[in-house]
Amino acid sequence: MGRNALIEDFDDGLDAGPGAFGRATLITGQRGTGKTVLLNALEDCAKARGWLTIAETATTGLIARLVDDHLPRLLAEHDPHGFDRRITGLTAGPVGITTTVVPDEHRPRPTLRSQIARLTDVLAVHETGLLITVDEVHAGDRAELRELFTVYQHAVREERDIGIVVAGLPVAVSEMLSDQVLTFLRRAQQVDLAAVANADVAAALREPIEAAGRTIADEALGIAVSAVRGYPFLIQLVGDLAWRANRDATDVSVDDAEHAARSAPRRMGAMVHAPALQGLSQVDRAYLGAMAVDDGPSRSSTVAERMGVAPGYGSMYRQRLIDAELIRPTAHGYVDFAMPYLREYLREHAVGDAPER
Ligand SMILES: Nc1ncnc2c1ncn2[C@@H]1O[C@H](COP(=O)(O)OP(=O)(O)O)[C@@H](O)[C@H]1O
Ligand SMILES: [Mg+2]
Repeated sequence: MGRNALIEDFDDGLDAGPGAFGRATLITGQRGTGKTVLLNALEDCAKARGWLTIAETATTGLIARLVDDHLPRLLAEHDPHGFDRRITGLTAGPVGITTTVVPDEHRPRPTLRSQIARLTDVLAVHETGLLITVDEVHAGDRAELRELFTVYQHAVREERDIGIVVAGLPVAVSEMLSDQVLTFLRRAQQVDLAAVANADVAAALREPIEAAGRTIADEALGIAVSAVRGYPFLIQLVGDLAWRANRDATDVSVDDAEHAARSAPRRMGAMVHAPALQGLSQVDRAYLGAMAVDDGPSRSSTVAERMGVAPGYGSMYRQRLIDAELIRPTAHGYVDFAMPYLREYLREHAVGDAPER
């Protein structure tokens, strides 16, 4: 399913009532494929309908941030009876009405479930709801995610207007889906952000240029499109580099596009590849370096041979790199880089030094 179709389904889901398909959505995609951008777009959809939104990242402490920060803040802003609920009893005595306020230590501590229940009760009056987005779920604490999803499911069962959208890296997320307690995610609407078609890349590059009163001819556009390789991060980067090459000229020229195509890989290396490679062991790097010798997909056995290790070791390193989402299996026995220009980056940075053995 494409991005626009997903946004439409989500929007329909907000209309359709509690538990509607689309209200629970799972977005997967490699780094830089536009997961966060899409999360934000869905959040905007919800806001446009008057829903409240909470945007979070699945780092440790997610539940505490929801319970101690986001939800109390939203309740304070939107619950008109927030204060009254602290009064547990009204006694009509001879001198009038007295109220008893329970001291803090005896008040039940609000839980994720009770806070969400209260907030959605308040929102129900206005016929709106609550959307929670959680980015980077692959890096999340399983127990915390389970708790969140369990509470979500309770809320849906209670017919509350609530939605949840999560995003993460494909391999890690598919591994999470096999976790019994996360089965709920399997029933969510799913979209895997694959490469953007060249026609759409061309449109995405051309539009902002023309909107700003400049032009780009087909040849220059074609050069920029091939440099993007269908990768959303590069739409922005290549477009920006081409735009800046000769700001004062009306036309974004072939030279400008070529300049962008030449500069983009290095920028991407610094912004995407370097951080992704950080924390890899020397052998993992060596494996990648041995792959970068090839101009296309590498045969796993050849990579092991180049590294001078037994195929068994080779497949262990291979699996680790697949799990890290840096490479992906292609044809049987072959692997390829998961992101554009990673090969070029590795060649330039000579990370493939022989491993210490
Ligand atoms: N639909 C899109 N069209 C054009 N550019 C996009 C699109 N989605 C993402 N981008 C660009 O790609 C970059 C990376 O997107 P992001 O959502 O941060 O990726 P991810 O979260 O998957 O790593 C964004 O900063 C933006 O420049
Ligand atoms: Mg992101």
